[in-house]
Amino acid sequence: MKLKKLKAYFTESLLELYAPEEIQSFFSILSKEYLNLSRVQVTLEADKEVDSAILQKFESAIERLEKEEPIQYIMGDTEFYGLPFKVNKNTLIPRPETEELVEWIIEDSVSEKRNDYSILDIGTGSGCIAISLAKNLPEAAVSALDYSYEALQTAESNAKLNDVTIQFFQEDILKTGTLPQQYDVIVSNPPYVRESEKLEMQSNVLDYEPASALFVSNTDPLLFYRTIARLSLRYLKPNGKLYFEINEYLSKELIDSLREEGYPIIELRKDFRGKDRMLLCRKSK
Ligand SMILES: C[S@@+](CC[C@H](N)C(=O)[O-])C[C@H]1O[C@@H](n2cnc3c(N)ncnc32)[C@H](O)[C@@H]1O
Repeated sequence: MKLKKLKAYFTESLLELYAPEEIQSFFSILSKEYLNLSRVQVTLEADKEVDSAILQKFESAIERLEKEEPIQYIMGDTEFYGLPFKVNKNTLIPRPETEELVEWIIEDSVSEKRNDYSILDIGTGSGCIAISLAKNLPEAAVSALDYSYEALQTAESNAKLNDVTIQFFQEDILKTGTLPQQYDVIVSNPPYVRESEKLEMQSNVLDYEPASALFVSNTDPLLFYRTIARLSLRYLKPNGKLYFEINEYLSKELIDSLREEGYPIIELRKDFRGKDRMLLCRKSK
């Protein structure tokens, strides 16, 4: 089959589910991966013959996209903060909002050249936060924990892929009462979507991304934040900084709760969509 015919077939198969620009973007990603052709080359080489082994790969991708599986899981990788990351059903797909949190921490930390500057990422998933911090703050000693063994396996292979050293460890942050040491920075993007918000979510997230990375109960949606804030009071160095990614709908009550926990200085930032998304908490002025 010629490339132009494959593209037309691909587009037609997915038009009921996706916008044309999104289908074009899927086709470009897959063409790069399976045929090593850029978007421009796909147009220039429209008459190229595609062999049956490659056609089968496109067919399988169409079937998975028809079931609304995220393209990142189909490819097995994605990009975060300009770096490559492997992702799978055990890891959340890193989001662009989280890149803004990483950017904030790098801005605040880049002038710190102490060789004992230490960072802990709680709920590391694919390792995207910890690894992009380690890559951009080479002097820092970065650690990361998750309670999912499978997520940690992926995070470890992502650290290798990006040529950084991270101390990974398995821990349930809701159960442990201790951390291995004191840190200059503790960061977390914990599960924060209330069960009641499921209705607003698309099936590509609900059916494929790990529920344990996303959801918290309606009755105590701030549990992770309170627990991490309490631990951090003991495990942050005196001028240490605690950064959170947050649920846009819960910013006010979260800030009140963190003040009560013992953080008099809290800075809120919005994401690129204008939604309340990140906090920096400090326990002393
Ligand atoms: C929202 S995801 C964030 C993943 C990654 N840091 C990111 O920003 O893309 C939350 C992560 O917390 C982990 N997690 C959930 N409950 C946990 C617990 N009790 N203790 C430690 N980690 C937990 C999940 O496995 C998941 O990797």
